[in-house]
Amino acid sequence: MLVVGNWKMHTDFRGAVRLASEVIRLTETDTRAVGVGVCPPFVWLEAVREATRSSRVALGAQNGHPAENGAFTGEVAMSMLGALGCRFVIVGHSERRQVFGEDDAFVGEKVGAAMGQGLVPILCVGETLDERDAGQAEAVVQRQLDGALESVTLDSAESLVVAYEPVWAIGTGRTASPEQAQAMHAFIRARLAARFGDDGRAVVLLYGGSVKPNNAADLFAQPDLDGGLIGGASLDAESFAAIVRAAAQQTEP
Ligand code: 13P
Repeated sequence: MLVVGNWKMHTDFRGAVRLASEVIRLTETDTRAVGVGVCPPFVWLEAVREATRSSRVALGAQNGHPAENGAFTGEVAMSMLGALGCRFVIVGHSERRQVFGEDDAFVGEKVGAAMGQGLVPILCVGETLDERDAGQAEAVVQRQLDGALESVTLDSAESLVVAYEPVWAIGTGRTASPEQAQAMHAFIRARLAARFGDDGRAVVLLYGGSVKPNNAADLFAQPDLDGGLIGGASLDAESFAAIVRAAAQQTEP
């Protein structure tokens, strides 16, 4: 199981360091079988790296540019994220797709560039409410997956993480039901297996969208949910740690 916090454009310098330290303290014991990651804003990455240095909490970035370098004012290259000690980079988050107009091809370039730098891309996919209501949820997710993975070769199952984040569940308090999440995760796993064989089948699949301490256990109990990508609840160390504990329960024999 893997639980990753996406802090989005929240926290200040001191708050970021404090949050990271609290997450380490609260997840130190009885959750060791769960991978834990935090994705602070770019500008706090270095401070959070220091705070997490000798802990098992992995560092991730929320975005990265596919080019190695160049005239891309305001962007940050994947190699720079690697140099800062990032293990993960979120790509294709629906907020990037919707607010910043990123398309599947661009997201795919990011996946390839991240892997090329030894980073693990957390590829986000998910349909809007209109698309779900129109019965297109699977078609949309399939297009996003296929588009982003078209020119990708998977070295191992650990080189990629996919996060299913239905847009209608993000920041709305309206979580996908465990059955809805499971159905889409099974669909994604089958697509990845068809594309990449056994490695694809073993890729870690996270669910994201209003995961909270009170619904995490039911979601994580689903067979194809391997953890969560947590927004709002990751900004509160107690809540985030409670979600990590819910994931740990799934790893107990
Ligand atoms: P919330 O947990 O706030 O719904 O956000 C989910 C998300 O977008 C994580 O990337």
